[in-house]
Amino acid sequence: MCQKTKEELKSIAKEASKKAYAPYSGFCVGVALETEDGTVYKGCNVENASYGLTICAERNAVFQAVTEGKTKFKKIIIFADTDKIFYPCGACRQVLNEFSPEMQIIVSNGKKEFSANLRELLPNSFNL
Ligand code: THU
Repeated sequence: MCQKTKEELKSIAKEASKKAYAPYSGFCVGVALETEDGTVYKGCNVENASYGLTICAERNAVFQAVTEGKTKFKKIIIFADTDKIFYPCGACRQVLNEFSPEMQIIVSNGKKEFSANLRELLPNSFNL
């Protein structure tokens, strides 16, 4: 399969952010999760009136990928249209780490970008 460019992945993540269901925080996140074989899964955050039931965009995409038998991830582009750059939450780092501790994490707010290896974002991670 033909690999998508970072710019293409960014635009997929941005489109996914438009589907976010975030009436409580107003913080709309979209991701493009690229697997080792080049398949791309989208994800957006889905909030709930019972706040704790909210699921982040990252985990939404991971769970879709795993449901389709894909567990090796190359990179994830995380997009939100914000002024300040942001970083993925600890729960999502741990879930990504379960499958691909060496994957690349790229955050974009449309103006700035942050890129790191997951190991840098989650050092000394918990594993069994
Ligand atoms: N959120 C994500 O979906 N991904 C992140 O990387 C940061 C936070 C969501 C969860 C919640 O719906 C909203 O953003 C505010 O925390």
